[in-house]
Amino acid sequence: MAENKSKNIVWHESRVDRASRNEIFKQSGATLWFTGLSGSGKSTLAFTLEHLLIQKGYNSYVLDGDNIRHGLNNNLGFSDSDREENIRRVGEVSKLFADSGMIVLSSFISPFEKDRHQVRDIHQQDELPFIEVFIDTPIAICEERDPKNLYVKARRGEIKNFTGIDSPYEIPENPELVILPSASPEKSAESIFTYLIDQNILQAID
Ligand code: ADX
Repeated sequence: MAENKSKNIVWHESRVDRASRNEIFKQSGATLWFTGLSGSGKSTLAFTLEHLLIQKGYNSYVLDGDNIRHGLNNNLGFSDSDREENIRRVGEVSKLFADSGMIVLSSFISPFEKDRHQVRDIHQQDELPFIEVFIDTPIAICEERDPKNLYVKARRGEIKNFTGIDSPYEIPENPELVILPSASPEKSAESIFTYLIDQNILQAID
């Protein structure tokens, strides 16, 4: 971890423990980390799952790469070091949301194993569930879909450092879940919902 530039800072403990928050929300805060290429379907799945969870009475919120780059991270581009800082910040934000009791759905290309591992680590240190969901859509399919016309531009050389073209994507080594492109977002969201119930992250609501 980078050295802290701030000196003379003191950690304040909350008076509310995690069990009390969980009891109120009928859920344990957790981060689901969706990683995959641009156009792989990460955000579609994350927003479908968010909708499903809210409809069922749970609380959930999507942190989406494109959206976060409009605000919190609007001073970052797509160099390796900017991507690293992007993931470091959103990893910390995800952890805070999870600590607040939220089911956080973080959708970022997050191409580097080291950065994803770091986010997993900070969750584990805080005993918060971290579930890595690899959206395993091959680049040929992403490029054919090209919903934002970005692959076409990258192939023409109009976008530099585009993931999968002239910037790497490291396949997750040990994701908890793998989603294949043959599954619809609705079906995948249902199966992740069942997984969250099985893991006791969501408690039954009567
Ligand atoms: S990450 O690599 O730092 O995790 P992030 O998920 O925040 O990326 O943002 C990716 C989104 O930015 C893509 O879905 C795409 O819409 C857009 N984008 C713009 N330029 C690039 C680029 N060079 N590489 C990848 N995505 C890009």
